[in-house]
Amino acid sequence: MKTLVEFVWEQQENVKYATGEFSRLLNDIGIAAKIVNRDVNRAGLAGILGFEGSVNVQGENQKKLDVLANNEFIKALRSGKQCAAIISEENDDVVIFDDETTRNAKYIVALDPLDGSSNIEVNVPIGTIFAIYKRKSVGTTVTREDVLQAGTELVCGGYIIYGSSTMLVYTTGNGVNGFTYDPTCGLFVLSHENIKIGDVGGIYSINEANYIYFPEGVKKYIKYCQEDDPETNRPYTTRYIGSLVSDFHRNLLRGGIYIYPGTLKNPQGKLRLMYECVPMAFLAEQAGGKASDGFSRILDIQPEDIHQRCPLFIGSKAMVEKVEELMAAHSSDFRK
Ligand code: AHG
Ligand code: MN
Ligand code: MN
Repeated sequence: MKTLVEFVWEQQENVKYATGEFSRLLNDIGIAAKIVNRDVNRAGLAGILGFEGSVNVQGENQKKLDVLANNEFIKALRSGKQCAAIISEENDDVVIFDDETTRNAKYIVALDPLDGSSNIEVNVPIGTIFAIYKRKSVGTTVTREDVLQAGTELVCGGYIIYGSSTMLVYTTGNGVNGFTYDPTCGLFVLSHENIKIGDVGGIYSINEANYIYFPEGVKKYIKYCQEDDPETNRPYTTRYIGSLVSDFHRNLLRGGIYIYPGTLKNPQGKLRLMYECVPMAFLAEQAGGKASDGFSRILDIQPEDIHQRCPLFIGSKAMVEKVEELMAAHSSDFRK
């Protein structure tokens, strides 16, 4: 039995000049995850379901648990002292920890504290998504360059799924590993070692209710998924939960593709580049899959704004390539 803490330290031992700071940071994320897991499990009893009564920077009504999860992660990362600043879906601006110790911290964390929060009340799996970057400058105030880094600079990407069991899945660029939470002893234990996603899967996940607003390439791909072709195991099957973490996690383990495209109404789609698309893209690539905005690699995109949105096509490599081919052939890219 190997715990998350042991695994992280072991991995870091192989990293030249490792100081233990990254290990401590990841452990702080694990601690916050346990607290949020407890709150999510007890939400119906603790009076923390429903809306907070506030609106976040993206104009979304915040749920009580959105705010609570955000506070727990910020608290854990602030007291852990390895993180100089946080980008969060629930904070308009970058949260900068400007005290004596954390000013010199090496890392920046981008966070979706609670993903899929529309599903909170109905006991459907929800999650937390995180991305860890190393600062470009240290010892000074956090700069724009520290914060707005492309996915290629990512040090770590991961998520926690609060599902039928709670799991933490992460990568540092050396494969993807999953840890299941054992509530009886309060430990995340390595349960899914070196996860790989099949090249082609049998699942496609997309909110088809938006069909009439989709680009032509996406419409064609949906029809392709529905065609009868026993040789390629089509028609595929549809699975769509409406929590990116849950949809991604299932497709990672089973093989499949998740799409949230740009639409006529929202040319940049819905998902946020820095704390939804990029960490998931890193995980997908590390598992042997692919992540694209329909035309190019997610990890190559240079962010201009911490809350910017981005279309997402992610999962099994051959499936992403197929939809990219159709996007190119029927180019109705709403972003241009
Ligand atoms: P969040 O709860 O963090 O705002 O994210 C919700 C996202 C994502 O998790 C999910 O895949 C997507 O919204 C679902 O959107 P639709 O309801 O438009 O399908
Ligand atoms: Mn989200
Ligand atoms: Mn969220």
